[in-house]
Amino acid sequence: MIFLVTGCSSYIAKYLIKKLLADGHKVIGISRTNPNIVHYNFSWLAHDLSKNPYKLDITPVDIIIHMAAQSLLNKPAAEYLHSNILLTYHVSKMAAELQPGVVVYASSMKVYGEIREEVATENTDIINPELYGQTKYFGEKLLQETIPTISLRMPGVIAVGSHGWIDNIYTKLKKNDPLVIYNAPYNHVVHACDVYGIIRQISTTRYYKNDAFNVCASGITTSQDIVEFMKNKLFSRSSLEIKEQRNTVAHVISNKKLLNMYHPMDVKDSLALYLKEMLSGGEGKDENR
Ligand SMILES: NC(=O)c1ccc[n+]([C@@H]2O[C@H](COP(=O)([O-])OP(=O)(O)OC[C@H]3O[C@@H](n4cnc5c(N)ncnc54)[C@H](OP(=O)(O)O)[C@@H]3O)[C@@H](O)[C@H]2O)c1
Repeated sequence: MIFLVTGCSSYIAKYLIKKLLADGHKVIGISRTNPNIVHYNFSWLAHDLSKNPYKLDITPVDIIIHMAAQSLLNKPAAEYLHSNILLTYHVSKMAAELQPGVVVYASSMKVYGEIREEVATENTDIINPELYGQTKYFGEKLLQETIPTISLRMPGVIAVGSHGWIDNIYTKLKKNDPLVIYNAPYNHVVHACDVYGIIRQISTTRYYKNDAFNVCASGITTSQDIVEFMKNKLFSRSSLEIKEQRNTVAHVISNKKLLNMYHPMDVKDSLALYLKEMLSGGEGKDENR
């Protein structure tokens, strides 16, 4: 199959592209900076998608994986306008031209804003999302109006190069720095390997329709348990101060809908794979998946 991947220089996209190439697919990637992927089935197009769509001669494109975005929180509104809204609008124009079977859109659990229920499902009310979450939701709608789009509402995605809570914990544990943990039920993570598993499932079953899935690892643990697990695996001497979460409803994510299609790894298995990759400085082996 031929995949078009926007935001191909991001760590998640690079992870997916390597898997796609290993599975024998052809991949065209678009980003402004060079992803430095060298493979006879990969071509990189240097382009700023916030300015205009890219006129692509190569057809057919079977699946577009739309990853390009301003993915950090608390950025100026103009950045989200350009990198998330205009950029996604241009991707929708490309999709209208290229007519892929489906667009897989890297959306976020942040679309829900303040989650006031104990379990966040796809029907959870959207309450006061930050600008980032608003633009991700807007992107879902923009794409769905044009082409069948599966929105993957993801929490922190872990792999080498990730930049979330788990990575901060990893860095502090490696440096033996003291840690203060707000303990709460925890499943707010998914390994990039499972994002690939979902995309593989979408492509092999040709699940080409408008839909949205909460994505997270399987099982539920606590943030304390996760940090202690990582501490042991890393032989860290960091001290842990545990505080109980107050004032907010500590929610977990429901991936029940996703489970009808794909079964992600357990939270601790996801962490174990991430740690293995981090310690080996590259992509871990996941032959069983
Ligand atoms: N990281 C997470 O935990 C997480 C969680 C949920 C959802 N997501 C979503 O997953 C996607 C990837 O996240 P990430 O954290 O890997 O992102 P990232 O590291 O910030 O990378 C963003 C990507 O978007 C590209 N991009 C941004 N503006 C662009 C433009 N104007 N034209 C072309 N490409 C542009 C960047 O490429 P250049 O700068 O080279 O152009 C880069 O490849 C994002 O859509 C994000 O919202 C991420």
